[in-house]
Amino acid sequence: MSRGLLGIEDLPRQEIEAILQRARDFQPPHRQPFPRLDTLRGKVVVNLFFEPSTRTRTSFEIAAKRLGADAVSITAAGSSLSKGESLVDTLNTLAAMRPDAIVMRHASSGAPHFLARHLDIPIINAGDGTHEHPTQALLDARTILDRKPTLEGLRVAIIGDIVHSRVARSNIYLLSKFGADIVLCGPAPLVPKELASIAPGVRIEYDMRRAIEGADVIMMLRVQLERQHETAFPKGEYFSFYGLTLDHFELAKPDVFVMHPGPINRGREISSEVADSQRSVILNQVENGVAVRMAVLERILG
Ligand code: NCD
Repeated sequence: MSRGLLGIEDLPRQEIEAILQRARDFQPPHRQPFPRLDTLRGKVVVNLFFEPSTRTRTSFEIAAKRLGADAVSITAAGSSLSKGESLVDTLNTLAAMRPDAIVMRHASSGAPHFLARHLDIPIINAGDGTHEHPTQALLDARTILDRKPTLEGLRVAIIGDIVHSRVARSNIYLLSKFGADIVLCGPAPLVPKELASIAPGVRIEYDMRRAIEGADVIMMLRVQLERQHETAFPKGEYFSFYGLTLDHFELAKPDVFVMHPGPINRGREISSEVADSQRSVILNQVENGVAVRMAVLERILG
């Protein structure tokens, strides 16, 4: 993996296991700060974000700093991209300053892969269009494995705007590699039938109650309005069919828990009662984001 991290689809199982294992070493004890190390002292990580981000960008930055690296963050709005510079020219400019890795988020699927072919610097994909978001799937797996001994045979219901979700895609690839039983659910235009064949172990269910039946994990997704050309689903109508409420829990396994990559839209895909309930592990996911990104950066740059 010395060349960066572009996606989960081609990442071998052993590599995933090694990252998840190493991330455990970085998980802080309850309410303690993350460990401060100097493994990556002298290294420079550039975070280049062409799309909005709160969690991903901040946690990459904190992860790099906790390992002793220097982290620089650039957003498209504040860069020369807004002056008409092309992506390749921006990246060549950054590359000339010799960073040790570039963490990149872009609205176009495949943008980081394209740059990885052109630049001799490890590129870490922090979300490319509707394609992949590998570190999100890794932190989600870490969060599940903090509560379950194995992913094998685990029933995971992924609910919402699957077709536009890079989080769903990376999670499907990862969970499928480890033998999970994956149910995708959402309105038909957002969950086209073809998605059932992207990996083994995936099935589609359009009825939310049936999707949740017997689930060990419920993973909710935001409707990616920015990737749709029209707002096909009014907020209230969407919620009445595909919004998660407390009474859904009765259909799932007794110890079911709820995940969401954030940002959450209360009242659209998830009720406030669920988001704030004991079953929500949303903030644990955020916390694991730092530990997992430390493991990824260490593996690529250490
Ligand atoms: C997700 C993303 O950007 O793909 N957020 C994240 O990284 N935690 C999901 C989303 O924006 O809905």
